[in-house]
Amino acid sequence: MDAVNARASWEEHARQLREEVLRLKAERGAVLVAHNYQRDEIQEIADLVGDSLALARFCAASPSRLIVFCGVHFMAESAKVMSPEKTVLLPEIDAGCPMADMVDEVALRAWKAEHPGVAVVAYINSSAAVKAESDVICTSSNALAVVRALGAPEILFLPDCNLGAYVARQMPEIKVHLWPGFCITHHRVRPEDLAAARKAHPDALLLAHPETQPDIWEQADFVGSTKQIIDYAAKSPAKKFLIGTEMGVMWKLRKDSPDKTFYLLAPGMVCPNMKKITMRSVRDALAETKYDIQVPADVAAGARRALERMLAVQA
Ligand code: 13P
Ligand code: SF4
Repeated sequence: MDAVNARASWEEHARQLREEVLRLKAERGAVLVAHNYQRDEIQEIADLVGDSLALARFCAASPSRLIVFCGVHFMAESAKVMSPEKTVLLPEIDAGCPMADMVDEVALRAWKAEHPGVAVVAYINSSAAVKAESDVICTSSNALAVVRALGAPEILFLPDCNLGAYVARQMPEIKVHLWPGFCITHHRVRPEDLAAARKAHPDALLLAHPETQPDIWEQADFVGSTKQIIDYAAKSPAKKFLIGTEMGVMWKLRKDSPDKTFYLLAPGMVCPNMKKITMRSVRDALAETKYDIQVPADVAAGARRALERMLAVQA
């Protein structure tokens, strides 16, 4: 087969797979949600594409009994915690978040024992068991509002030291203890990358995720969640942007702002776990009802309390 025929054959295969997914989704009455870092073709068929907070709110409010969660494990787990009566499928069971794995409930209990009485704020990028040991959850879009609403003079913040440092910088009146966790995709961006990007695109604004290190986000024109970055770019009168987060956001940035130009801040800003989910695995998830996320009832009850406290905060 020559290259042209091979491409046509692949495109036909991809089209059939997509049709199969849409048919199965309709037959099963499922909703399919996708995080902003998912592959383009998954974002294209999603009922909602969003950041962690938007996805958590949407799944909790959805009347559908079947949710196909195209994201990473902690996100699907949070959806299950909020709606135990629903079936929540994660199409790739190994799609985890290395940062979420940088703390567990045993280590958190020991940290709490070192700081008795200090409130615990857990980033949503954490396991349900860690959430159950925490006072409140936050995402990158509502961290400041959540900590303000908590009203505590001192907090333990985990697992992301960069988001925690951002909270500490914005709220100097609060003492913030940081857990030494980080995102492998964002933490690796260094000031040399920023200098090179600025040199190549001197008139572009920098929009950065708070999971980048402070020496990146403190130089940004805007710091926010994936959704906030996409919305900021759409509203801004500027035409060029350096994007300091995972490359998956490019799909929605270009869709919402077709007249603007976006440059990834550094090469290799890819979350390999987010990319594990493919159209084939979504098809298999719908056809075989897998992988059905389960959370033990006692853990879910504790995690739900902390998540509900977050959802009650208006960011
Ligand atoms: P957002 O909530 O900003 O989408 O971030 C999720 C995440 O995992 C970022 O790496
Ligand atoms: Fe986790 Fe980073 Fe991937 Fe987000 S981008 S899911 S924080 S590893």
